[in-house]
Amino acid sequence: MTEAMRPGLSVEQCVTRLKRYHYAFKRLHQIFIARITAEPIYELKSGFSLHSHLCAEQVSALRKRVGEMREPPLGLENVPHANLEIFFDEILATPSTEELVLGLYEKAVPAVKAGLEKHLTDTNHLADQPSVRLCRIALMDVKDMLKFGTTTAASLVTEDIRARVSAWLRVLDDCLAAAGGLDGTQPPSGKKIERHYSAKPFQYDPVPRRDQRFPDPYNMGVNAEVFLYDPKFPPQPKTLMMFYKRLREIDVPEMMASIITETPDKPWEYYRDMTRQLWDEARHAMMGEVGFASLGIDWPHKVMVNFTWSLGLNTQLSPWERHAVLYFIEQGLMPKNGKRFEWEVGLASQNPLSGLFQDYDWADEVLHAKIGRDWYLKEFDDPKKAVQYGDQCWSRVLMNWAKWRDDGFTRHRNWWPDVYRDACQHWGVEPDPAVLAYATTYEQVRADLKTISASG
Ligand SMILES: [Fe+2]
Ligand SMILES: [Fe+2]
Repeated sequence: MTEAMRPGLSVEQCVTRLKRYHYAFKRLHQIFIARITAEPIYELKSGFSLHSHLCAEQVSALRKRVGEMREPPLGLENVPHANLEIFFDEILATPSTEELVLGLYEKAVPAVKAGLEKHLTDTNHLADQPSVRLCRIALMDVKDMLKFGTTTAASLVTEDIRARVSAWLRVLDDCLAAAGGLDGTQPPSGKKIERHYSAKPFQYDPVPRRDQRFPDPYNMGVNAEVFLYDPKFPPQPKTLMMFYKRLREIDVPEMMASIITETPDKPWEYYRDMTRQLWDEARHAMMGEVGFASLGIDWPHKVMVNFTWSLGLNTQLSPWERHAVLYFIEQGLMPKNGKRFEWEVGLASQNPLSGLFQDYDWADEVLHAKIGRDWYLKEFDDPKKAVQYGDQCWSRVLMNWAKWRDDGFTRHRNWWPDVYRDACQHWGVEPDPAVLAYATTYEQVRADLKTISASG
């Protein structure tokens, strides 16, 4: 009773604050997405993929709550304070990974956390229960993000770097102070803010970059699909090819980030759905990674994971054309020889992890097919035309297998026998000579490459 009788925030005050959290999550979502493609560090690609998804979910929840308390127009697309805009613009535009990590996880996310906690302290928990619930759920996600971010900063940012960027970090503090805090509950400092990195507008970099665990990113020397669909090969070694295919899917977040970043003015639900799929694809890559780890295979040295798909699409097609390719590939994964087949191979292989991962991979794909129907297919009057258009766009992407080799980008080394031998050792079996001899690249099967060698 004592707590419930304590006056709290008015609806007006509540909505004003919720709009600030909404803006913060929306901008965080934008930054995480925009920085996935060109970020070389693999864990950050995956981390940003997850955190963009968490932020997108909070944006949706906050939009709904504001809509419950106000009549349209809700003003959700307005910037709550000019200095808050500069704050996020600065983090978006920062050139280095270290500053990006510090800006996100030592400035922005903690400021959101403080705002949500203050909301819980200030509001009446009876009158404003739906917001209280929402803040508590958001805090759960925010704390997860901070845990990852704190660990990342500790392992990535040296004291030297920290000292070098301290002036810029102070700019971020100044922005927040001049905005009256992230939640707007403090009196604004009145200080005039000068833009630093964001003085020049942010330019999205569509070229994927990878760290040293991807030493041969143009290697298209092992054709996973031809092996996978060849009935003469047994299921057990096929699980290796499926782990490879999953891990290679880190190119899908790299590509989808470009669609999301370069497609403005869609309804919010578009960004939410596309981001969910983006995160799923990062998760699929991590399932492949875990698969290799479970077999004791040193994938960064043994498995040559390429980025040729995201590179080709991001640099040769428009965002809409990329979406068409994604749709074309994913609708091709639904029939018998797609995700169901992979799951059946996983089960037949007796590798429980492969069966489990393919089970969820298939389930996720059902959702992705729906996202494709909602946001791509609806633009066409004839579904056949939608598929054909995706096929045409995909055919236009130049994959220069021979030129990459001739120009010295890669030798398309056949890494398969090495990996297979390592796995056999783990399984305690003798390598099968026919499997060991597998040497089909992506050059010889150009026609198949068009339809089946792709991520989704
Ligand atoms: Fe996938
Ligand atoms: Fe997918």
